[in-house]
Amino acid sequence: MDIKQRIDQLVEKLNKWNYEYHTLDNPSVSDQEYDNHIRELEKLEGKYPQYIREDSPTKRIGGLVLDKFQKVIHNIPLFSLSNVFNETEINSFDERIKKENIVPDYICEPKIDGLAVALTYEKGLLVRAATRGDGTVGEDITNNVKTIRSIPLKLKEEVNIDVRGEIFMTNESLIKINKEREKAGLNSLKNTRNAAAGSVRNLDPRVTASRKLDAFFYHIPNPLDYNINSHYDALKYISELGFKVNPYIKLLSDINEVNKYISEWRNKRNDLAYEIDGIVIKLNNIKDQLILGFTSRYPRWATAYKFPAEEVNTKLKNIIFTVGRTGQVTPNAIVEPVIIQGSTVSRATLHNEKNILNKDIRIGDDVLIRKAGDVIPEIVKVNKNRRDGKEKKFIMISQCPVCGSKLEKVNSEIDYFCVNKNCEARKIENLIHFVSRDAMNIEGLGERIIEDFYNLNHIKNIPDIYKLNVYKKELIDLEGFGEKSINNLLESIEVSKKNSLEKLIFGLGIKQVGVKTAKLLAQKYLTIDALMKATFEDLKNLKDVGPIISENIIKYFFTPENQSVITELKELNINTNYLGKIKFELENKKMYNKKMVITGTLNKSRDEIKELLEDLGAQVTNSVTAQTDVLIVGENPGSKYQKALELGIETWNEEIFNKNIN
Ligand code: IVH
Repeated sequence: MDIKQRIDQLVEKLNKWNYEYHTLDNPSVSDQEYDNHIRELEKLEGKYPQYIREDSPTKRIGGLVLDKFQKVIHNIPLFSLSNVFNETEINSFDERIKKENIVPDYICEPKIDGLAVALTYEKGLLVRAATRGDGTVGEDITNNVKTIRSIPLKLKEEVNIDVRGEIFMTNESLIKINKEREKAGLNSLKNTRNAAAGSVRNLDPRVTASRKLDAFFYHIPNPLDYNINSHYDALKYISELGFKVNPYIKLLSDINEVNKYISEWRNKRNDLAYEIDGIVIKLNNIKDQLILGFTSRYPRWATAYKFPAEEVNTKLKNIIFTVGRTGQVTPNAIVEPVIIQGSTVSRATLHNEKNILNKDIRIGDDVLIRKAGDVIPEIVKVNKNRRDGKEKKFIMISQCPVCGSKLEKVNSEIDYFCVNKNCEARKIENLIHFVSRDAMNIEGLGERIIEDFYNLNHIKNIPDIYKLNVYKKELIDLEGFGEKSINNLLESIEVSKKNSLEKLIFGLGIKQVGVKTAKLLAQKYLTIDALMKATFEDLKNLKDVGPIISENIIKYFFTPENQSVITELKELNINTNYLGKIKFELENKKMYNKKMVITGTLNKSRDEIKELLEDLGAQVTNSVTAQTDVLIVGENPGSKYQKALELGIETWNEEIFNKNIN
């Protein structure tokens, strides 16, 4: 057997084993045998790169670390789903369908709690994977998606097809990752959905690969093009092509069957290895789907039944108070730990004094707690019949639990505030907010680390974050750190200096200025200086701002300490400009996102051509693939020219190139 044949054989064997293991959950060889083969393949590919195949399993890893993801426009938008919450609403969904003289049968599918992905295959090869984004424009996450073993790089048929599904993380993987993160002093990932989304949107494919993601597929946008007349057949087809389709999907003959399926899954959902947050109900017949069509956001032929928030009984052990960034003091319940919807809950919010008194919540009570989706768990009610008289009545505190100053009710009948601006709790919360994801997004500076660095006097205010490198030696020696994690942290701090203005504005923690308002302000004023000069009148008239927020903004920038924070940040080279405009300009460039390759000898040097193209927004790469838009061809072109011809890619000679860049 010659080398090429051996490589082909190895790739096919390994892909088959991979499919059996990750898609069918039914391995036929040992891990060791798989590893031996992959090692042999790696060796051969190293020596004979000319034989590397597009669908080689070694191509799953090895994508480049990116600066940012490229935008992708979806040919057919990714729609969302309308929601229904009870049997009455499910039945009216059915009635709306019957009004169109349709005799429906339905497919019910577990609603996977992950993130949607759109895959594009050309001639059976995976050429692009994109996130949903806003439904019309997503992000190119191809390299990351290739690391997910259950997603085929090559299909069983050489078809051109778009397939959509959900990437998710199992509960077990999340627990494992969080254990490792805890060891490394990093924040825990909140739930499987956030963890999956964060992993897929990591700029380094190696991180994605380490996160053990999985995916189910449930949709092709244009089934009729493949002579498919029912959703059931569409699922069967994609499963035959090599995709993982959820095994619990069921074809049901009427809405009563649907209701039965749903009530069974209300209990069974907790037995699954992954989270589902509802059941998707889809009309089976494709022609019937077409009759119903879409609204601007949803198909009318499908809907999602959402499971109710889960409620669990537990014991209220204590009530503690936390001080937020604005000084607001919130009572929190410490409860006997219980598992609700995949996460361990040991705390619940009690909102405020009034809520506790209304519900007559006492320490020692048996309570019912509820958690829905991302929201903070809360106490629904007290099981008063379980009281034994030892419960302690609640008394609201009158002094800040951290600095001891007297609490006040500010602009509110209900909430108490610590009004001491120098309260350590408030300062720490402010710093935590500044580094959080929607703000400056500094990875590796979790809540506990901020608190530690604050207590060590390394970070007392926002600018200190950018002076942390002074303590590098000391930090490396701290328990739980090390050179690598401190280098990563300092790198992440450095990267954050380039953030666009809206992240900084949000991070400053101006009262009531959320992500949306921060963005609006950045877009309107473009620089922090302009924003600082804005008058109350200017601000008040902005959409979504109004007099209260305007006053907060004016007050914030009027305060000398805040002014010196901004001055210091500028001195430390933190970007204070809005960058979205630049991006917008880039997106409008003539060759934005065009993938160009150069071959042969041209009058201008390669570097010169590359620079000209990049100035126009193009990306210049080295090899011709199906994704290449244009090949620029000089004298004596190489094999790239041949390949471009085979793939039907546009080619420009130097004359056309010159014309096009002008
Ligand atoms: S169908 C036109 N099926 O739920 C087809 N979506 O809340 C629209 N999802 O954006 C989607 N499991 O990310 C469909 N079995 C399933 C699903 C599912 C999870 C997600 C999907 C969608 C979101 C809508």
